[in-house]
Amino acid sequence: MIPSQNRSQPLRLGVLASGSGSNLQSIIDRCQDGSLSAEVVLVITNNPDAKALDRAQQAGIPAVCIDHRQFAGREEFDRALVAKLRSAGVELVVLAGFMRIITPVMLEAFPQRVINIHPALLPAFPGLHVQQQAIDYGARFSGCTVHFVDAGVDTGPIIIQAVVPILAGDDAERLAARILEQEHLIYPRAIQLISEGRIRIEGRQVRIDPPAAVTGDRLINPGLVN
Ligand code: GRF
Repeated sequence: MIPSQNRSQPLRLGVLASGSGSNLQSIIDRCQDGSLSAEVVLVITNNPDAKALDRAQQAGIPAVCIDHRQFAGREEFDRALVAKLRSAGVELVVLAGFMRIITPVMLEAFPQRVINIHPALLPAFPGLHVQQQAIDYGARFSGCTVHFVDAGVDTGPIIIQAVVPILAGDDAERLAARILEQEHLIYPRAIQLISEGRIRIEGRQVRIDPPAAVTGDRLINPGLVN
């Protein structure tokens, strides 16, 4: 189940990243400034060129590249990931821009302990290139979602979301940059809620106990004035 309440030690995170690792960085920063009671004990990438590797090394965090191309299939790859994560004593697996689909091998090894961040307001726009999809669709809002990982693609129970308006003249890059700013706020927050033992999954619902206050009760785009 979810890591328990009243922990005396920081929650041990294993972060899996394939690219730039800006979410990894935000988590490292919040651990370092004490606002997140967790510790990144291992970073794994499948991409030898991932900037996430440099970020881990810079922070003195053990980092390893496990290249998925060297495995016969997804499950064999996941078995190698699980072995590394277990040997590092990881309690929560944090997917941060990890461009591989997770199999039941990982989910059974870390039940309800794999989370992901997605740059859209799920259940709208699962999958890839979702900022462009939201613009092409003509949506007025997009955003980002932290969710538990289940056997589907971007389908697991939702922990936290941030809404980002789509503005006139937005292209995928500009929208992605504004969404990313919010990702850097909500991912550490989700992990902190888990670390505090405040998260419980009931079916599709993620219960937060005690509940966190919601600020701002309304977002309208375009606005009602001018
Ligand atoms: C983020 O937009 C995240 O939502 C998605 O992949 C991107 C990773 O960015 N899953 P970074 O590597 O954390 O900078």
